[in-house]
Amino acid sequence: MKLDSIKRIGIAGAGTMGSGIALIFAKKGYKVTVMDLSITLLEDSRKLVDIFNQTLLAEELMTSDEEERVMSNIEYSLDKSAFKDCDLIIEAIVEKLEVKQSFWKEVKSIAKKDAYLATNTSGLSINSISEDIVDKTRFVGMHFWNPPHIVPLVELIKGDETSDETVEVLKSLMKRIDKEPVIVQKDTPGFIGNRLQFAAFREALHILKEGVGTVEDIDKAMRFGPGFRYPVLGPLETADLGGLDTFYYISAYLFKNLSDSKEAPEILKEKIDSGNLGVKTKEGFYEYFDGQDEEVIKRRDSMFIKMLKLNNSAEKK
Ligand code: NAI
Repeated sequence: MKLDSIKRIGIAGAGTMGSGIALIFAKKGYKVTVMDLSITLLEDSRKLVDIFNQTLLAEELMTSDEEERVMSNIEYSLDKSAFKDCDLIIEAIVEKLEVKQSFWKEVKSIAKKDAYLATNTSGLSINSISEDIVDKTRFVGMHFWNPPHIVPLVELIKGDETSDETVEVLKSLMKRIDKEPVIVQKDTPGFIGNRLQFAAFREALHILKEGVGTVEDIDKAMRFGPGFRYPVLGPLETADLGGLDTFYYISAYLFKNLSDSKEAPEILKEKIDSGNLGVKTKEGFYEYFDGQDEEVIKRRDSMFIKMLKLNNSAEKK
């Protein structure tokens, strides 16, 4: 199917991700059908979309016409057969392989013959999720980052049988909804973004364990050092600018000191066992009592939006 023929988007799962993904397509004029398992979940999703709209309006990232368009372009359904007219179906349901497989087993016979099929899995295998689908050429991983109506990156992950045409069409579609697509050439755990993110996370925990820096200073070093650069330069361009010879010499003595642990981190296990899961339990590496939980989320969202505006204006130049 050609890019211009994609008009109707089906989204399964009206949670955190499905709601935000629905908003971005609806804002651009696509007709969207969101499906979930109960009326309450669908009503909650509509409320969530409204909250996202209000933030975008307040930040002038959305006009009132676009807000109206979002609300009128999204339909809700409890029935998967509502996907029968969709040109692209995005599955954003619970991250359990067997649930995703049984979803697709049912939807493969409902979907149009030429519809594109996508899963928003965070890291499950694209090949395993699509196991039951006979023609996998139009099946792809489409990994939006949370919050999907703000973070620009979308990873398009090729399964073994995904066609180049599918990837090209969906890449263009992502650009139409103002996203920054990257192609993940192999169905590999963590895709690209989470491999980078968790390499830094593993090293942060290693530095903490070795007593080289405090929690605050590790975060600060990332935010004002490498993190300051990363919105402008990726790690490879950073090396080009720093000089590949210099980066080689540093790697030669430094790599052997970096963590190469293959285990999930013990320190996280200890925190989980004591009921400290981070913001959602008000304690993690930091404490979030007396309204600090809401404060930190507000600060994050407002900074993300500022970054997005900077990013948008840089892209227009
Ligand atoms: P969520 O728990 O907020 O929403 C999932 C929704 O799927 C729920 O409303 C649930 O009722 C519904 N659901 C479950 N089984 C279903 C079925 N058979 N048919 C229709 N709906 C069904 O989850 P969230 O966070 O939105 O995640 C969804 C997917 O997106 C997962 O695969 C997750 O790994 C992925 N993802 C999540 C990110 C995050 O930060 N939350 C980031 C990127 C990807």
